[in-house]
Amino acid sequence: MTTNSERRILVTGGGGFIGSHLCQRLIDSGHSVLCVDNFVSSVPSNIAALLDHPQFELIQQDVALPLDVQVHQIYNLACPASPIQYQRDAVQTIRTNVAGAMNVLELAKATGARVLQASTSEIYGDPAVHPQPESYWGHVNPIGVRACYDEGKRCAEALFFAYHHQFSIDIKVVRIFNTYGPRTQLNDGRVISNFIVQALRGEDITIYGDGSQTRSFCYVDDMVSGLIAMMNSEPGFTGPVNLGNPEELSILELAQVLRKQTDSHSQLVFKALPQDDPRQRMPEIELARQRLGWYPTTPLVVGLERTIDYFRRELAAASKETTSTTITA
Ligand SMILES: NC(=O)c1ccc[n+]([C@@H]2O[C@H](COP(=O)([O-])OP(=O)(O)OC[C@H]3O[C@@H](n4cnc5c(N)ncnc54)[C@H](O)[C@@H]3O)[C@@H](O)[C@H]2O)c1
Repeated sequence: MTTNSERRILVTGGGGFIGSHLCQRLIDSGHSVLCVDNFVSSVPSNIAALLDHPQFELIQQDVALPLDVQVHQIYNLACPASPIQYQRDAVQTIRTNVAGAMNVLELAKATGARVLQASTSEIYGDPAVHPQPESYWGHVNPIGVRACYDEGKRCAEALFFAYHHQFSIDIKVVRIFNTYGPRTQLNDGRVISNFIVQALRGEDITIYGDGSQTRSFCYVDDMVSGLIAMMNSEPGFTGPVNLGNPEELSILELAQVLRKQTDSHSQLVFKALPQDDPRQRMPEIELARQRLGWYPTTPLVVGLERTIDYFRRELAAASKETTSTTITA
């Protein structure tokens, strides 16, 4: 017999950036956590602090392979989120999204577990409506370089709702907008980690396009609170619900803020915009406010400061490793 504070929870992609913070929060709240990850876009050190915890278990496998486990809740986060990572093996990205979603839905069907899908603002594509409400159907190139991710996630949403309507599976769907914080990889390729690493190394800060394209950034602690609030929201509230920070800034502004916060003298250099890069991105979060009582509370400068501290430590550790390898070689 379990109480609300003693659930067994499966987190696919639990070794990743958001997943590792989610696993930590769930463990801190007294739950047992089963993490499934193949570390295709993350490193096991993200969850090093959890590996010896008696209520934490890691299964290293592909989410698309059958899972025979008893759980009460499933968070489906497995999928590389950075364009560099998800475009490296586009077929595997589609497979992860589609076969992975089907797999966790089958598990929910077999166990009666509630299942949450980590969908994405990318399902809106290069949006013609701004800011993006959940009712907007999106503007996605189905055959472009980002399609493996965007269309994979759209298909996963379709699968979640098909299982809900056909088999009454208890689903929750969130659309995550740009999230940042510690444990993004040094070579992750997303804009905040790129800019911070370049600024700390004193390298040129690379801006794609003229930097006028906008994004809005949510700190990872706020995102984890939103995911948990949605998972535990009233029965029948399926979403999709947007989770993100509605404060919008241009990529050029972001580069300037980060250069200042890192005391860097890096130059800003401008390169061609990649194919299908969205021009603007900002969530409408009224639904999350009303139904979940959720909104982000971490100011950008505070979140950036924590993220910069993390990357300073990572770069110091990487340079120590290089020095010791050079000495021993
Ligand atoms: N970070 C963001 O800004 C953002 C925005 C929108 C949506 N999301 C979604 O949130 C989720 C987590 O994103 P993240 O930023 O933590 O990315 P991440 O790449 O750090 O984490 C994804 C994790 O999934 C694992 N994974 C990938 N394919 C797998 C497979 N086939 N089997 C098992 N494990 C697999 C990776 O190894 C990694 O640990 C993803 O589903 C992503 O699409 C993230």
